[in-house]
Amino acid sequence: MAAADDAAVRDLVARMFATMYHAPGIGLAAPQVGVALRLAVIDLAPDDKRTPHVLINPEIVAVSKELATREEGCLSLPNMYADVTRPAQVKVRYLDIDGARREIQGDGLLAACLQHELDHLDGVLFVDHLSALKRNMILRKLAKDQKAKEQTAGDR
Ligand code: CO
Repeated sequence: MAAADDAAVRDLVARMFATMYHAPGIGLAAPQVGVALRLAVIDLAPDDKRTPHVLINPEIVAVSKELATREEGCLSLPNMYADVTRPAQVKVRYLDIDGARREIQGDGLLAACLQHELDHLDGVLFVDHLSALKRNMILRKLAKDQKAKEQTAGDR
């Protein structure tokens, strides 16, 4: 990466961590802040022990046959949660902020978080893993919440 690009990416990453911690959330992908880069940030550690990871050009290189179901939410779909079933373990290859090749392997919450964030890079949201019925329920609720919010703003 050129020096100017490098500075721009570092600036973007700082803004993404700030947005994620403020939400609060455990992951955020560049497309969620309107940037078409294959980049995501995650941090599953508690606030007092922050462990930020920057994943550039991440790729899933292995998944388990075993599946796991956990409740997911998303900063792009405020206050919506649903059970999502995914491979229980994944291995992801990526470049860190210094351009070093790295690998992260995880199960449980980390596995779900990695798959959720990598999905965002391909425009996929957790609701896309649900049945059409469940997805429509959530999207209708989201639209209703949005309308209520606009109503409240209009009343002021
Ligand atoms: Co999300």
